[in-house]
Amino acid sequence: MSTATYPEPQPHKDIEEIFPDVFIVRGSMSIHKWVCISRVMTILRHEDQLLLINPIRLNTEGEAQLLELGKITHVFRLGYFHGVDDAYYVEQFKAKFWCQSSSNKYPNPSPDVLMDESTPMPFPDMSLFVFENAKHPEAAILYQHHGGLLITCDSVQHYDNWDGCSIFAKIIMKLAGFRKSTLIGPMWLKGMTPEDGSLEEDFDRLLHLEFKHLISAHGDVCREKAHYNLEDAFDRIYSG
Ligand SMILES: [Fe+2]
Repeated sequence: MSTATYPEPQPHKDIEEIFPDVFIVRGSMSIHKWVCISRVMTILRHEDQLLLINPIRLNTEGEAQLLELGKITHVFRLGYFHGVDDAYYVEQFKAKFWCQSSSNKYPNPSPDVLMDESTPMPFPDMSLFVFENAKHPEAAILYQHHGGLLITCDSVQHYDNWDGCSIFAKIIMKLAGFRKSTLIGPMWLKGMTPEDGSLEEDFDRLLHLEFKHLISAHGDVCREKAHYNLEDAFDRIYSG
């Protein structure tokens, strides 16, 4: 193993199996002394290979649990604003790193694969969706199992509760427009919408995909109602 230093693991729960070969870890991320927000890593398994999406470094027990699931072979960065733990997995486990061109807010690691919607994916039955009009690179994955599972970073999020968020984070999030529902990330939308532009066309195209469930990099898993809920979230923003 390399002796490079990486950010230490932050508090998280045990790995949960959401669907067969689809796992998550619910974690947290301290972004200020008083502000801690929820974070979620998704793990897809195909045969003995693991694909980590929105990676979170785990504690010793969590990492042992992860390695019992399979071999970490691929790491995906879906969101421009994420990437703090990507280098740890890529360098320590010799995993292949996938991201979009210019998704370099965190410049390490260097990409092995620069992906777009035409890039063959590492596992069967998955495809990449790209927000073409966003100011910075952002993507989502459609995993065509279990009725369709959409995996996002910040673009679409779902909250049943505020677990993993500090009191100050809850106050800030509520003021910013977060609520207990499926939503288009309010701060992300502000940061990603070009001046005099709109992401309406991107979300319209996203809603043409078939999915029932959602896992994002924050919040909770939305089962069954993700598409229906996102239609509502879309209308709240673009049909007002
Ligand atoms: Fe985020």
